[in-house]
Amino acid sequence: MIVIGIETSCDETGIGIISDKKILSNVVASQEDIHSVYGGVVPELASRAHLSRIDNIFKIAIEKSGIKIEDIDLIGVTNHPGLKGSLLVGVSFACGLAYKLKKPIYFVNHLYSHIAVNFLNENIEFPALGLVISGGHTSFFYIENYINFKEIGKTLDDACGETFDKVGRILGLSFPGGPYIEKEAEKGDEKKIRFPVPSNLKDLNFSFSGLKTAVLYYVKKYGKENISDICASFQKTIVDYLCMKIKTSLKKYNVKSFLLGGGVISNQYIQRRIREILKDEVKVYIPEKNLCLDNGVMVAVMSYYLNKYGIPADENRIKVIPTK
Ligand code: KG4
Ligand code: ZN
Repeated sequence: MIVIGIETSCDETGIGIISDKKILSNVVASQEDIHSVYGGVVPELASRAHLSRIDNIFKIAIEKSGIKIEDIDLIGVTNHPGLKGSLLVGVSFACGLAYKLKKPIYFVNHLYSHIAVNFLNENIEFPALGLVISGGHTSFFYIENYINFKEIGKTLDDACGETFDKVGRILGLSFPGGPYIEKEAEKGDEKKIRFPVPSNLKDLNFSFSGLKTAVLYYVKKYGKENISDICASFQKTIVDYLCMKIKTSLKKYNVKSFLLGGGVISNQYIQRRIREILKDEVKVYIPEKNLCLDNGVMVAVMSYYLNKYGIPADENRIKVIPTK
């Protein structure tokens, strides 16, 4: 079964091709160069960039995979959540492909895909808990099996990655701030500054905006001379908070596995800390770095499982009006 996954929900144009659970190609065009001057993703520019790049990314993904276009059995595309204009580009492209090839298409949830990429080459024991920590979302899921996900908590304000990016901007770092903060933090002392841990610890929702404001006030008062200490202390506070929430989730739900996903979990320090608190509790799954960040393979994997467990494919919504 050859599955192509198409991802354009934010600022990465990603196309991935898998053969059952083997990755044949994974091509991602990032738009960091376009958005970095604005310090955040500009939706209009993102959709235009997807439009001008998607044909080429598709060609490269096919070439790298070694298959012919006609070999594709199944098409998956992210259709929510995300930036509407950006999603539209991927969905239109996927519908056109499905129409041309006369193959089934699945419209896939972006957050489920971030979790599902852990299913590659693994036999997961269910039930499981999932945590997606990305630029646009921070959400807990109770996962019954490969296709049933229930959101059981989410951020009430900023997402975790968004907080990294906004703090990066406060500190004058490049966009997206996450990887730059991780790098700076390696040189800093994480105990130097005590930022407040957000206080709602009993439920599974998150709130990050207070922490972002605390960093802003710190920088206004003391400046950013000790940028490495600020980054290390901020990063530690974020992980302390994530770890407390993860512990709460394990008290509420009896599970066998814990699946992580999303761009923020590519951070090595965060991975280490989370693995540490989970090591005697459940089996932990974290995708490799390029599969944590937005990509098409994760969409292909989710679609593969929807098909495998008999979920009917979505209708191809492109209708061709015959010309006279
Ligand atoms: O999952 P993703 O690629 O896109 C969304 O679905 O949002 O995540 C992007 C987010 C950005 O906010 C970025 O700053 C963050 O992931 N990120 C990181 C790291 N690498 C990427 N955050 C912290 N540490 C990193 N090393
Ligand atoms: Zn994402």
